[in-house]
Amino acid sequence: MIIVIIGAQWGDEGKGKVVDLLADRFDIVSRYQGGHNAGHSVYVQEKAFVLRLLPSGIIHPDKTCVLGNGMVIDPKAFFEEVDQIKEQGIEVTPERLKVSSRAHLIMPYHRALDHTSEERLGNEKIGTTLRGIGPAYEDKAGRRGIRVSDALSSEVLRMRIERNLEEANRIIVLFGQPPLYADQIYDEIAPLVERLRPFVTETSHFLAEARKSNKKILLEGAQATLLDVDHGTYPYVTSSNPTAGGASVGAGIPPHHITGVLGIVRTYATRVGEGPFPTEMLEDEETTANLIRERGNEYGSVTKRPRRCGWFDAVATRYAAELNGFDSIALTKLDVLDTLDEIKVCVGYEVDGRRIHTFPAVSHDLRKIKPVYESLEGWKADTIGTTEFKDLPELAQRYVRFLSDQIGVEIGLISTGPERDQTIILKDSVMEGWFK
Ligand code: IMP
Repeated sequence: MIIVIIGAQWGDEGKGKVVDLLADRFDIVSRYQGGHNAGHSVYVQEKAFVLRLLPSGIIHPDKTCVLGNGMVIDPKAFFEEVDQIKEQGIEVTPERLKVSSRAHLIMPYHRALDHTSEERLGNEKIGTTLRGIGPAYEDKAGRRGIRVSDALSSEVLRMRIERNLEEANRIIVLFGQPPLYADQIYDEIAPLVERLRPFVTETSHFLAEARKSNKKILLEGAQATLLDVDHGTYPYVTSSNPTAGGASVGAGIPPHHITGVLGIVRTYATRVGEGPFPTEMLEDEETTANLIRERGNEYGSVTKRPRRCGWFDAVATRYAAELNGFDSIALTKLDVLDTLDEIKVCVGYEVDGRRIHTFPAVSHDLRKIKPVYESLEGWKADTIGTTEFKDLPELAQRYVRFLSDQIGVEIGLISTGPERDQTIILKDSVMEGWFK
């Protein structure tokens, strides 16, 4: 069995907790795109783990974790995270952590270029995490990137650094930043690559063999559908493909071997960084936005930036369901809405007085959108920790059913708090089958 988990909105939907829950039933957890721009928070017995690069399965000692070929890996960030997880008492060895030989490395000049690129864009900036993700993918597409397997040869590593830095420095210096030096970069990266060597694996082959021996594999998406470089709110996107098709390419798994796709949807929407966000709560709804931000702890787990908050957007989520082919949805953070009198759901879009039914490709069209809302009565009761659907207040049940009808996909799991056991799994759902 191979299941892909994907955020349906702009990220931070609470994938970490769901992956962590499902990891119990799976043997292998693999990431397939992105890098340490992700930030998954997982809480286990009041211990908080923040994972950026490593799959959330890493905190289960009996799981094998994979960083797939579609990822961009900053070796320094990789070992910082490995060391931090080890300090928290989790064993991380090459036996249980495999890094694709085909993944690309994020180099120090990628970080510098991420800064200059954002600076150059000024008011039009993307609001990236400044981790060097975009420039590393640019090098990959430009066929000059440094793959893990290249870096294992010290001559190739040195040669590629020298060649790529020449070009990078032209831009860095143009923007008034000090140039970087190839020797310094080599001296920083080479020992890290040496430390990485035992983790390096032909991961697509590893996953193929695992599937043949009936191992269960979870493919963990980072970022989310609306940040996808092809399908998201371009250019305000990340530089990879978090959507389901990206899982096949980025893990090196044939598409027909994927058995199911799970969407993670939050009861409201957030966005970090710039870019269109049709249901954003603006000045007139600032009090509600602040309340949700505080109750939902909506601050970036990587950058600590306050997240922009908005109402649930059914148009965008339907689009995500269509693109990814969700078989089931995990609905997260229901409890965050417990105190609201009224909950709005965007059920349609209007542009220049015209009703539109699809998610527009053009970012400036998205900025012109007027969301069409339906208003639902809040349940005004505590749902935190509820474990049975029937124990939810009637109005909360209604809200969940309403969202499911709007998206056109079953909601198979509801998260009612950050802990593992604060979860409802709906009987007879596709999701329930994945938990067996
Ligand atoms: P980048 O991935 O650092 O290039 O950033 C591109 C866009 O994706 C920015 O708007 C970021 O805020 C956003 N982004 C990147 N990673 C995440 C994530 O894990 N959660 C939410 N937003 C993200």
